Amino acid sequence: MSGGSDSAIIKYVKDVADSLGQVCAVIGAQWGDEGKGKLIDLLAGEFDVVARACGGANAGHTVIVNGKKHVFHLLPSGALHPNVQVVLGAGMVIDVSTLLEEIEVLKKAGVDILPRLHISAAAHIVTQEHKERDAKIEEERSNKIGTTKRGIGPAYGDKALRVGMRMESNLQSPISNCLVSNIAEFMNDLIKNKKRILIEGAQGVLLDIDHGTYPYVTSSSTTVMGALQGLGLPPKVLHSCIGVAKAYCTRVGEGPFAAEIQGDTANRIRERGGEYGATTGRPRRVGWLSIPDLQYAALLNGFTCWNITKLDVLDEEKMISVEVERGRLGEFPGWQTSTSGITSFEKLPQQAQSYIQFIEEKTGIPALWIGTGPDRRDMIVKSI
Ligand code: GDP
Ligand code: IMO
Ligand code: MG
Repeated sequence: MSGGSDSAIIKYVKDVADSLGQVCAVIGAQWGDEGKGKLIDLLAGEFDVVARACGGANAGHTVIVNGKKHVFHLLPSGALHPNVQVVLGAGMVIDVSTLLEEIEVLKKAGVDILPRLHISAAAHIVTQEHKERDAKIEEERSNKIGTTKRGIGPAYGDKALRVGMRMESNLQSPISNCLVSNIAEFMNDLIKNKKRILIEGAQGVLLDIDHGTYPYVTSSSTTVMGALQGLGLPPKVLHSCIGVAKAYCTRVGEGPFAAEIQGDTANRIRERGGEYGATTGRPRRVGWLSIPDLQYAALLNGFTCWNITKLDVLDEEKMISVEVERGRLGEFPGWQTSTSGITSFEKLPQQAQSYIQFIEEKTGIPALWIGTGPDRRDMIVKSI
């Protein structure tokens, strides 16, 4: 059961929104699927523009409003707010058929996004051939990545080889009117005109092509620097950067995962957390929170605060492990009581409060947003 109401949470968000400044970025701090979409949806009403910068339809961002689920792959998760302009940046690789489908699904839900959609003409197009090549490379390689098969690697590969096709060559489609010839000028004009911009990161820091667990990564820059680059925004305009991390950790696809767990505990967390890919439906690998990974993500992005998500998923655990240093697990007593839908920090059980405070102390970053359920309203919002 959810304890809060939409109007209560919207008021809390309004109260703290000013502190986020004119430009705020939301960045995944683990291997993706941290719950970025939910936070973006919650914040978007306080911004004029929500912008995706990098990645493509490998992303799957889930938003639940009044029990209705929306999954975004290419469009930003702020799209449900009627007055928000939405941007797809130059760093993206866009599968036009997926985008058109997403636009259609929203239209059926009563949201006409076309009049407020702005797409960089320099974003690259993902073709059917890219998707086929992605699947074929996966099939043939010995160290499989476990890609989403959305054609991401081949599309970025062609871009780097300078043989890619850009959105500017897609002039027949219904989205041709949405193309922006110079996204850097467009975004910087918004800044000049005092518009507030919310940047929606995709994937997570540990999947970053430069700083992640290579080769088990995606093909784009998933950090805040990558996001600014993809939108043509200079770093000095950024005021705040929220790092999103689950209270535990998941990974979908192959690659190292030191605190991964198997067996009953993993199965329980997977089921309670609904840990199945929003894009591919694959069961996500499950493990404990890693403090060194959060510290690493924080140093790469300069997070100003955390959104710790899915605290409620740990409600049934007797003991909760955490990787406190590389290769060393520590144990915390669980709270074994429901935190579902709690909207104030003081109402959390003492052990849950201590758990959050431990993360804050170890990373030196305040957890101002704490997720206690999948719905928009299931969020603790703390002000500093
Ligand atoms: P994203 O890719 O970072 O946007 O995350 P996904 O949407 O792929 O996966 C996060 C999943 O967790 C979604 O199904 C959300 O509805 C759900 N979720 C987000 N925050 C919470 C939370 O605080 N508690 C619970 N139980 N679920 C959450
Ligand atoms: P969101 O935005 C979780 C993972 C894939 C694979 C690797 C490379 O929803 O958090 P790719 O198709 O990008 O070449 O796959 O990256 N991956 C994600 N995992 N969430 C995502 O996005 C992901 N996008 C890519 O599973 O391991
Ligand atoms: Mg996701």
